[in-house]
Order: sequence, then structure tokens, then C-alpha cells
Amino acid sequence: MMQSTSTNGQQPITLDEIQAKFETEHNVTSDPWDYAGSGAERLRYKKVISLGKVYKPKPDNLLEIGCSSGLFTAKLAGWPKVATITDISSTAIAITEKVIKSVLNKGTDYKLMKVSATEPFSPDDFYDVVTLMDVMESVGDSMHIQVDIINNLKRMMKPDAIIIITDYQSPKKFDQSIAKYEGWGLELLEKHYMHDRLWFSLRTNLKGLAKINPFKRLLASETAAEKLAQLSKKRGANGSKHMVLVMRKAR
Ligand SMILES: C[S@@+](CC[C@H](N)C(=O)[O-])C[C@H]1O[C@@H](n2cnc3c(N)ncnc32)[C@H](O)[C@@H]1O
Repeated sequence: MMQSTSTNGQQPITLDEIQAKFETEHNVTSDPWDYAGSGAERLRYKKVISLGKVYKPKPDNLLEIGCSSGLFTAKLAGWPKVATITDISSTAIAITEKVIKSVLNKGTDYKLMKVSATEPFSPDDFYDVVTLMDVMESVGDSMHIQVDIINNLKRMMKPDAIIIITDYQSPKKFDQSIAKYEGWGLELLEKHYMHDRLWFSLRTNLKGLAKINPFKRLLASETAAEKLAQLSKKRGANGSKHMVLVMRKAR
């Protein structure tokens, strides 16, 4: 069993515990964070793909870490020649396998792997693009695991590869996060704020309405998420819960 060190003096969390937690989450429901019902998350997916295409219009090999219910995975169809899709949860992989059946024959070959991002599962210098979206914060403050993930990904990235990172977090932590990744040998190419804080506040504050159809439709709407983003934008970085980072290996 691999152990991680905790930075806050609390019980250290292990990779086995992380796996068990995500296995349970995906067993309870196939879409634990209701990404399908979220216009804001779909805008995040669009942003990541549009940024990635600027740097790598037709990558040979793309690696997705933490596919969960496969919603972003499906949107990759037609972009990379080969997409290697991974998750630590075997249930997430089984859910994603069903999802990608609907996007086969669109020019991308999919490979699915149940594996932790800390494990070496591909040769050195293999991937052109890596996506690491909302995974790092999900392993908590276990820095040891976060370092293992970044070191492993750097090893598998080609020298000119890009890695696109997102995390759901307090805007107060944005600068700290960038410094953390730079300290681990990544170099920032660009950053974007999703201005989705108002959207997330609305969802949290109106939880009681979650099952009411007009409210569900509002949250699922990309147009509504875009309008809320325009309002949130006035607050700059403070109007965001997600930042999108495009990084590469430091030279
Ligand atoms: C919050 S979800 C994010 C899903 C998706 N990437 C997105 O941004 O919409 C985090 C996912 O990361 C996976 N995960 C957590 N730790 C991991 C690890 N060490 N290796 C691979 N996947 C991991 C979880 O099982 C879960 O499916």
C-alpha cells in the first residue's frame, strides 16, 4: 500500500483510500458531480479543447487523467489520433467505455486504462497533450501523491508536449497553485479564468430547487452559464472557481 504525507498533520491518505472513495462515488451514481447537468462544466471542456487545438491541432497521442463519467472524453472525438483515457476507478472506466461507443468512427482511436496517474503506464516521451482536469484537488492535500502524479506525467510527455490543468478551488489559491506547478518543473504558457463563481454560488445557494425542472434547465444551459460568466468577469480572478492552465515541461 502506498502512503502519502499530509501537510496539515491529519491522518495521511493513501492511494488505496483515494481509489476506494472514487469507486464508491461512481457506484452511487454514474455522474457523481452532475457534469451532464452543468453548463459551466461544458464551457470548461470547450475551453480546454479550444486551447489545446491552438498548440496541437492534430496530436498523435493525448492522455486524459481522471475521466470520471466520460463527458469530456466524448468531446475529444476527432481531435487526437489516439486518446488514452485513464481513471483510478474501474467503475468510472466502465461508465466511460459505454459513453465512447457513441463517438467511435470520428477519427480518434480510444484506449481505456484503469490506472493511477502515479503509476508508469506508457513509455517515456510519448504524449503530445495531457489533460489533468479537476484531479489534483480531488486527492486532497496529499502533496506526495500530487508530486508523484506530476513527475510521472512529465516523464511520459514529449519534450514539446503541453499539459492542460484545471482545478475547482478558491481564487485565493490560484497564484499558490501556479507556483506549486512551477516548483514541480512545469512552465506556464497561459492561464484563463472561467468566471464560473456565480454559477457555482447559484447552484449551492439554490440547492433546494435542484429537482425543479426550470432550474435544472437553467443550470444545464451553456447560454445561461455564459451570461453568468459575463457578470462574474467583473470581479476578475475572484469571479472564478476554475482557472485553466496551459503548461509545458520547464526548459
Ligand atoms: C472530480 S473528477 C474530474 C473528472 C473530469 N476530469 C472533469 O474535469 O470533469 C476526478 C476524477 O479523477 C479520478 N482520480 C482521482 N485520483 C486519481 C489518480 N491518482 N489517478 C487517476 N485518476 C484519479 C477520480 O476517480 C475522478 O474520476
